[in-house]
Amino acid sequence: MHREILKLTDVCKDFSGIEVLRNVNLRLCDRHILGLVGENGAGKSTLMNILGGIHRMSSGSMELFGEPYDPKNPADSKRAGIAFIHQELNLFSNMSVAENMFIDSGKHHRFGFVSAQARRKETNGILKRLNINARANTLVENVPIGVRQLIEIAKAIAQNARIIIMDEPTTSLSNSEKKVLFDLMRELKTQGVAIIFISHALDDIMDMCDEVAVLRNGETIGEQLPVSRITKDEMISRMIGREISQLYPYVEKSLGDEVFGVHGITKRGVVDDISFSLRKGEIVGLFGLMGAGRSELAHILFGIDKPDSGKIVFDGEEKKGAKPLQWVRTGMAYITESRRDNGLLMPKSVEDNLIIVDLKNMKRRLGALNRKLASEKSKQMKERLNIRTYSLRRQPVGSLSGGNQQKVVIGKWLMINPTVFLIDEPTRGVDVGAKYEIYTHINELAKNGSSVLFISSEMEELMGVCDRILVMNSGRIAGGVDRPDYSQETLIKLAIGER
Ligand SMILES: Nc1ncnc2c1ncn2[C@@H]1O[C@H](COP(=O)(O)OP(=O)(O)OP(=O)(O)O)[C@@H](O)[C@H]1O
Ligand SMILES: [Mg+2]
Repeated sequence: MHREILKLTDVCKDFSGIEVLRNVNLRLCDRHILGLVGENGAGKSTLMNILGGIHRMSSGSMELFGEPYDPKNPADSKRAGIAFIHQELNLFSNMSVAENMFIDSGKHHRFGFVSAQARRKETNGILKRLNINARANTLVENVPIGVRQLIEIAKAIAQNARIIIMDEPTTSLSNSEKKVLFDLMRELKTQGVAIIFISHALDDIMDMCDEVAVLRNGETIGEQLPVSRITKDEMISRMIGREISQLYPYVEKSLGDEVFGVHGITKRGVVDDISFSLRKGEIVGLFGLMGAGRSELAHILFGIDKPDSGKIVFDGEEKKGAKPLQWVRTGMAYITESRRDNGLLMPKSVEDNLIIVDLKNMKRRLGALNRKLASEKSKQMKERLNIRTYSLRRQPVGSLSGGNQQKVVIGKWLMINPTVFLIDEPTRGVDVGAKYEIYTHINELAKNGSSVLFISSEMEELMGVCDRILVMNSGRIAGGVDRPDYSQETLIKLAIGER
């Protein structure tokens, strides 16, 4: 039998009167992985912030290892054995792995004062024990993102954590990095650690968790259940309060002429002889493993990077050395994969952020902003993507939940009808209901004549919405598959270079 080590009873939280959590109940057993799922803005991170001592609950009670628990700050929670790996990672990139490992353990560390050498030795020991491919002396900035995630976990182990909270740890990982993380999570269980795992990838929740709890609108919905006793569909209906019959809307479209042509684009060491074209109204997927060169290609197409050779033709005309601003003027839109430089103005309101791309269409004749129109359009987008905000005008975008910020990034670009739309991993961290809306919206754009290049590492998503999928491998296009001939197997084979 697994012992219950953490119990939350009727936990409530409000931010200056706005209720975010209401009577949340949760329990975590020894050596278990508890999945926590819910729509963007449901309150998952807030709940974890309370556990991690970042926020205080407004009312309710918590019990940890049979004792009352109410951390006043992150240090309290760490001392109690809880480690928190945040949605945004927390490592110092200009310091070494070892320095990061012990940065805030200070004198709580069991050796008392630690010499650099001892620190390095222990770090290497932990890295080895957890099978993490990194060395103590390497600077974090030189470590791939996926491995940084693992280092955060190693850091938790160095601090003797008994419970590790992982808030959407897989959003920036490649499939192979994800596998390493999951192996590590299984290993941690056998070493006596319990995990709370937050994710929007419900298949991962099914694979990895012992139990699952669902939050909707700040409340726990239904009983917390072993994953063997709940289906994915049930999870979805608990999360969004209704059933979704299909996850991917696809509409038949009539494709027009070639709009965007890429001819022999080459940049040494990055991409090699890339040629393809987009037709009017076509959605083309770009699949590949991480490091295959997809995002680098997008950078070149949008004029952020320059190719060594090759040409890009738009509407029959070669665009030589066009810069991003020129591309935007011709009607190209680009959603980058990096959440950090997605161009949100954090202190500005949700509405101000939503209207920014389409600003020129929201002005009156003399140049003043037409607030009424701006509000109307923002409200439509908010409803469409179900952006969780208490006020479009008053809430700063920076205080939205992670997934809702991503919805704003997408929403602002959806406000215009771009001729060519480059989108790179747009649905990471977005809940299932909103994903459906985003796909629907992309379909409609295509139906109205936009051409879309859809970069993603999620095969199912690409197979669900694209007319055609190109696969990149080591900087080259390894092949393409048309709807409906594609299968996961063909895509993977192309991606890893097998024939
Ligand atoms: N400091 C804050 N001030 C005001 N509102 C906040 C604050 N922090 C969170 N909220 C609100 O609390 C609600 C819950 O947010 P939370 O980040 O917990 O959601 P989440 O379930 O983690 O969503 P996601 O899946 O998008 O990460 C959101 O509506 C958010 O805007
Ligand atoms: Mg969150």
